[in-house]
Amino acid sequence: MDRIRIRGGCRLKGEIPISGAKNAALKLMAASLLTAQPLTLTHVPRLADVRAMAELLRSFGVGVTISLGGGIADGDTMTLNAGTITSTFASYDMVRKMRASFQVLGPLLARIGEAKVSLPGGCAIGARPVELHLDALKAMGADVWLEDGYVVTQAPGGLKGTTISFPFVSVGATETALTAATLAKGTTRIINAAREPEVVDLCRCLVAMGAKIDGIGTGELVIEGVHELKGTTHQVMPDRIEAGTYAIAAVIAGGEVELVGANREHIAALLALLEKSGATVSDTPRGIKVAMNGARIVAQDVTTAPYPGFPTDLQAQIMALMVVADGSSVVREKIFENRFMHVPELARMGAQIRVEGDTAIVKGVEKLRGAQVMATDLRASSSLILAGLVAEGETSIGRVYHLDRGFDRLEEKLSRVGADIARIPE
Ligand code: EPZ
Repeated sequence: MDRIRIRGGCRLKGEIPISGAKNAALKLMAASLLTAQPLTLTHVPRLADVRAMAELLRSFGVGVTISLGGGIADGDTMTLNAGTITSTFASYDMVRKMRASFQVLGPLLARIGEAKVSLPGGCAIGARPVELHLDALKAMGADVWLEDGYVVTQAPGGLKGTTISFPFVSVGATETALTAATLAKGTTRIINAAREPEVVDLCRCLVAMGAKIDGIGTGELVIEGVHELKGTTHQVMPDRIEAGTYAIAAVIAGGEVELVGANREHIAALLALLEKSGATVSDTPRGIKVAMNGARIVAQDVTTAPYPGFPTDLQAQIMALMVVADGSSVVREKIFENRFMHVPELARMGAQIRVEGDTAIVKGVEKLRGAQVMATDLRASSSLILAGLVAEGETSIGRVYHLDRGFDRLEEKLSRVGADIARIPE
């Protein structure tokens, strides 16, 4: 298994191209199941999760062709052709490896009238149940039952529009209800819908495919079902979590980095916090520039929340920054119940963090020391990379397959701006 080796202390200078967003690309790929015509996606990131979703779709009979982009700034182009669907079965092995596989449920049910998809089970960051997805489909008239760990669902007469009011915000459940509603009879109203930019990107692609959706980007989506959807070409939005992670990299290591292709609005909550910590953020014609002049970071409290609040997918990374800040801070995780696995690993590098329930109390230290650490999930591993950038000596991070799931050529992007980072094959 590969490791990543970082020698800390290098300032960063230069530009980092931001790839297409993993969490948008995976749902857009699943949306190809909604039409018999080809859907072409551009700016697709090169990630293990994208390959896994392509494999799952191929198992349904979807034709998937990928044309690789030239340089690191170019995404790949993917054409998905779900003209003939030969299977509606997603195995435990697939869904366990990548939870986003569960997002094929809504599109399969809406277009084919049936699906059998494994329940995802818990994962490293929490129990992550799916009852909101299933309640939404039931409300639209589907029969849904559980059989040997699988969700089996049928709607032989098609789905019917209805009002779905979510008790709390769920990105995945909003996407399940939304995709199912595009082909349902009549109007579906989704109240308390997720407003995450990835949901907006999915809505825009669905509209280009012929779906009728009102309220895009708000907490209430209104979908007028249509008889069928058509193919289109859609560019995947830039990855706001990747952009946010590299913004934090510039601040923790010091220096000046331009995030080319990043969307400022998508990471406004993070950028405001970085500015309060002492960083300078400015717009450039191609993206955002983040600079830190070498002064000590000023500690800030952080609480995660649904968009436009501070994203849970940047909580581990901002904690790495607070670990070396001047002063103490309180980091509250309000989305997932078990998302502090990076804490013991950061402690191996000298971080002083105390966890009490959903709250981590971080006492800033002047120095971190390089150590052997282990990645435990995707975002947790990126926080170890960030800590490694500023730690004295060498940090060696194991289980980097977690990083490969969601960061497109991370070591290449960071070494281009001056980090001393390399992948060591084992
Ligand atoms: C998406 O997960 C993302 N994954 C996550 O990114 C992200 O952390 C999360 O949204 C929140 O922004 C993908 O897009 C593939 P939720 P999702 O449903 O849709 C609870 C990453 O690192 N819940 O908004 O699964 C749930 O347990 C990943 O890229 C229920 O209780 O998240 C959680 O506590 C990690 N019942 C909260 O809601 C349900 O039926 C929000 O989850 C559904 C969710």
